[in-house]
Amino acid sequence: MKRVTVMDHPMVKEQLTLARDRRTSQVAFRKAIYRLGRLMAYEFLRTMETQDEEVETPLGVSKGGRVKGNDKIVIILVLRAAIPFVEGMYKNFPMARTGVISAWRGDPPGFPIEVNYVKIPRIRKDDVVVIADPMLATGHTLLEVAKRVAKQGRPRRLAFFSVIATVQGIRHVSKGFPRAEFYTCAIDPALDEHGYIVPGLGDAGDRAFGPPR
Ligand code: URA
Repeated sequence: MKRVTVMDHPMVKEQLTLARDRRTSQVAFRKAIYRLGRLMAYEFLRTMETQDEEVETPLGVSKGGRVKGNDKIVIILVLRAAIPFVEGMYKNFPMARTGVISAWRGDPPGFPIEVNYVKIPRIRKDDVVVIADPMLATGHTLLEVAKRVAKQGRPRRLAFFSVIATVQGIRHVSKGFPRAEFYTCAIDPALDEHGYIVPGLGDAGDRAFGPPR
């Protein structure tokens, strides 16, 4: 899978371990997901071009540079677990435009996807679109989300950011978007009968915000 990057920075490992730990509190879990978003965006900037420029210091002139295209990033936030994830990303993608989509995966065997809120900015052809969802499990939700995004235009790059992914999920999304890039902190080996990642970290939305009732 040549377009898959597993971000294995020591800080990523540490925060992921905290997020996986069943004893981690709701507040600490959200903070870990926030930090993972920030770290992933930071690492992703390595894949962006930089533009050379000169800068005057108090004592002379130095070569310098800036990130090219930081204003072309569009984040798509998949409710609800991506809220702290995206909040962290803004630290390194400060000028990102943002789309929000609520997509909900139903039960097996079909895993039907219910989409009930879509607000996506117009996508231009020089944009870099980052679809953020902490758990890339079966890939059904993200494939549907990416189709909705594609209706707003085709970007220069399409990247999926997850905290944990599965090979199955990446393959499923790739069927519809073969040129997409995948960035994740870990690839886990299995899905259970409900489509949850094993060992994973549980239900990311529930752990970040509390169970629905
Ligand atoms: N969504 C989650 O929150 N957790 C999983 O393991 C899979 C999907």
